[in-house]
Amino acid sequence: MSKTWWKESVVYQIYPRSFNDSNGDGIGDLRGIIEKLDYLKLLGVDVVWLSPVYKSPNDDNGYDISDYHDIMDEFGTLADWEELLAEMHRRDIKLIMDLVINHTSDEHPWFIESRTSKDNPYRDYYLWREGRADREPNNWASIFGGSAWEYDAATGEYYLHLFSKKQPDLNWENPTVRQELYDMMRWWLDKGIDGFRMDAINLISKTPGLPDASVTRDARYQFASEHVFNGPRLLEFLSEMKREVLSHYDVFTVGETSLVTTGHAIDLTHEETGGLNMLHQFEHTELNRDLSSFSPRWSRRPWDLPELKEVMTRWQKDLENKGWNTHFLGNHDLPRAVSNFGDDDHYWFESATQLATFLLTLQGTPYIYQGEEIGMTNVHFASIEDYRDIETLNMYREFVEDKGLDPEAVMTMIHAKSRDNARTPMQWDTGPHAGFTTGTPWMKVNPNYTKINVEHALADSASVFHYYRRLIQLRKANPVLVYGTYDLILDAHEQIYAFTRTLEDERLLVILNFTPETPRFELPEHIHFSDKELLISNYKVDPVERINLLTLRPFEARVYRLFP
Ligand code: GLC
Ligand code: CA
Repeated sequence: MSKTWWKESVVYQIYPRSFNDSNGDGIGDLRGIIEKLDYLKLLGVDVVWLSPVYKSPNDDNGYDISDYHDIMDEFGTLADWEELLAEMHRRDIKLIMDLVINHTSDEHPWFIESRTSKDNPYRDYYLWREGRADREPNNWASIFGGSAWEYDAATGEYYLHLFSKKQPDLNWENPTVRQELYDMMRWWLDKGIDGFRMDAINLISKTPGLPDASVTRDARYQFASEHVFNGPRLLEFLSEMKREVLSHYDVFTVGETSLVTTGHAIDLTHEETGGLNMLHQFEHTELNRDLSSFSPRWSRRPWDLPELKEVMTRWQKDLENKGWNTHFLGNHDLPRAVSNFGDDDHYWFESATQLATFLLTLQGTPYIYQGEEIGMTNVHFASIEDYRDIETLNMYREFVEDKGLDPEAVMTMIHAKSRDNARTPMQWDTGPHAGFTTGTPWMKVNPNYTKINVEHALADSASVFHYYRRLIQLRKANPVLVYGTYDLILDAHEQIYAFTRTLEDERLLVILNFTPETPRFELPEHIHFSDKELLISNYKVDPVERINLLTLRPFEARVYRLFP
């Protein structure tokens, strides 16, 4: 397996709107990020992935871009961005930009032209179709609810939008579109950025002819996964992009890819032939979906630990020496890691640190989402008025007004799964609005900021923050944590997730209790060692304790070095 800097990096994701507001308008901005770079340096991350900062009408908080070559007014100017990049590089932090190229905003000049007439030169930049006798061209559902088609009176045709109607899909079949996007990518790369996170990238190739999706649920519109994900020309488009653009720079790419198998992932991230370097796949975050529900996205089902081990182990072993994994427990689209996988109430510290240990000891590049390093949790706003996310607001309207569901039951779903859980402002201190802004924040702060905030975390050497920092140092000091082979032990255990990492004659043992219970850990006999050294743990551990048989405390995590 080849060694590269991006395999050895730890990435931190910034959602700029919610990170830090420097001018009191209630919206996080680029200068606000510059103010906090020393904080990120202290944490020890190597790379920042910046969610979109381009010009945007913000229908989907920047994931709807109206100008790829400029910065959103609320976030600052291109000069601020240049300064951000320079300040990051000065601290040896790399920057990867979010690249949203499955769609643009409907306010992008290409789309404004495209909708004016059927023979406009930009018409074919998007996917326009005639309707069928008073209905949409096909039965596809938008990922954000309703039809994936919007009728446009100017020319009497519909355009495709897999997300909101203000996010028309680009037509990747048109080579001119691809060349325009490649030029834009080069423009950013020539400014010295270190890579891209590619938004919804496995949606760019659709089944030719855009046929109806098979009917899998009792609804007017159907999720057309078989026609929009991992389409026939996906690998070809990405190889072309690598050949024409990416291979000319020392950068890395991470694709956001829902609904991929490890087979797809090997094709996409293969060292020689893959178009991308790594992917964000979501199997582990979707374990709690009830697929028989009318809306799996918002449903909840209990899952057990062997299921999680099966998913993680399949990804670890299938990609071994072939592709490269990423690891993340949260992002701007997911609930907070400690609320989703841990216990943010009784065992907040223990489960936040146990999950951190899990995140940073697997093979693959780890991604930390802003606030996770201080254990930020889900938010439970009582009123829908306090929510901002378009997906959440669409869902509330659809479930309450159209489907007639009980509003309280719908709020419970939102508390568990809304994307706004991850988007409440970063909790910096105990001051008003958690020190995020001196004005009125664009979304309310989580009321638990008086307890969970950076100020407290920095001052307490036993905080979640300092535990993350120590883990990152551990990863840097031990290449076995980056390159070592992963092997699961105790695969059927219901409470303990344990595995080894091995690189030549070095071996580490990771023991994680995923429950509030106190299970007994028994080391399998085939694991021989002459001596051991505790590298990190989230509880005080007696150094002479024998690890052949031990009782773990709630959400306990330990990493040992085993000497042969
Ligand atoms: C990705 C982004 C999400 C956005 C969507 C449309 O899934 O992570 O935030 O809404 O793409 O761009
Ligand atoms: Ca601001």
